[in-house]
Amino acid sequence: MRVLAFETSCDDTSVAVVDGTGTVSSLRAAHQDQAHARYGGVVPEIASRNHTQHILQLMDQVIKESGFSLEQIDGIVTTNRPGLMGSLMVGVMTAKTLALALQKPVLGVNHLEGHLLAPFLRDSYYQQIEDFKPQYVALAVSGGHSSIYLIEDFKKYRVLGKTRDDAAGEALDKFAKMAGLGFPGGARVDRAALSGDTTKFVFPRAVLGEDSLDFSFSGLKSAAQRLISSMAPEELATHLNDLCAGFQEAVVQVLLMKLKLAVEKTAVRKVILTGGVSSNSRLRALVTEWGVKEKILVLIPPLRFCTDNAAMIGLVGAWRMSLGEFSDLSLSPSPEVDPTDFM
Ligand code: KG4
Ligand code: ZN
Repeated sequence: MRVLAFETSCDDTSVAVVDGTGTVSSLRAAHQDQAHARYGGVVPEIASRNHTQHILQLMDQVIKESGFSLEQIDGIVTTNRPGLMGSLMVGVMTAKTLALALQKPVLGVNHLEGHLLAPFLRDSYYQQIEDFKPQYVALAVSGGHSSIYLIEDFKKYRVLGKTRDDAAGEALDKFAKMAGLGFPGGARVDRAALSGDTTKFVFPRAVLGEDSLDFSFSGLKSAAQRLISSMAPEELATHLNDLCAGFQEAVVQVLLMKLKLAVEKTAVRKVILTGGVSSNSRLRALVTEWGVKEKILVLIPPLRFCTDNAAMIGLVGAWRMSLGEFSDLSLSPSPEVDPTDFM
């Protein structure tokens, strides 16, 4: 099953050709960071307009680069949930129109399931470490969600823990904004933290009970807000890298602590780290180091498969279509963040 896939749930327009083995023939994205930067966050209207501008050009490029013609594509897949309505609508309408014109099947998939299966993609630069052989404990951390899942099988996922307030990426983005680093913040905090001292500023880590796999980042955010407002601009500039290192450390250590607890509780010794925040160099390093030390298999997709991309959406679609799952032309976007609607 080879599919053409679209991902337009937020501010990245991404199109890919991928097959059921996870082989990505081509993947292209148009990022909109510049367009939203001066507003300090994603502006939904601008995101939708930019998706409309880029999606067909990207599709044209992706099809050419894939070496396959549209006739050789078996199905069309798109993210239809969760996300910004106007953004999702562009991918959904493009996919349905193509499906109708080409007389191909169409399927809407959940963005989160895409992140969970991203480690099973491959291209000419990256071979996945192993084929899909559940079970896995997956830490999915991005701008919109922070959850720990138990992947029991394909389509059989269990939420072990989730955030009670902000997502990890959201906390990093808000901190970056407070610290004057601009938008999008996560990668900038990561870069600044590289030359910072993690022990100069120690931020609170919300444990939420010894046995809990839930997260909370709102206290951490308020602590940062209080500290930053108490600092003079010169002081903030002098200590910016240390502040970033301290804040990032608090986020990353909580993520690691909960991941370790999930492995302990489930006795599943294969771990997936996925979602935009799994691009974070400190998180990747700590999880990798722990995996080596404890002999736990750690699967972390390369950066292009960690952040929002159409290849992961295509993989989910290819697998689901192979099992006979299809949408009809009434497929529509849904903004609902129901972490169980793909299980
Ligand atoms: O998965 P993703 O691309 O979109 C959502 O589904 O939300 O994740 C975006 C999030 C943003 O919050 C961004 O700041 C964060 O991932 N992010 C990072 C890094 N790169 C992206 N956070 C920490 N370190 C990074 N290097
Ligand atoms: Zn995402």
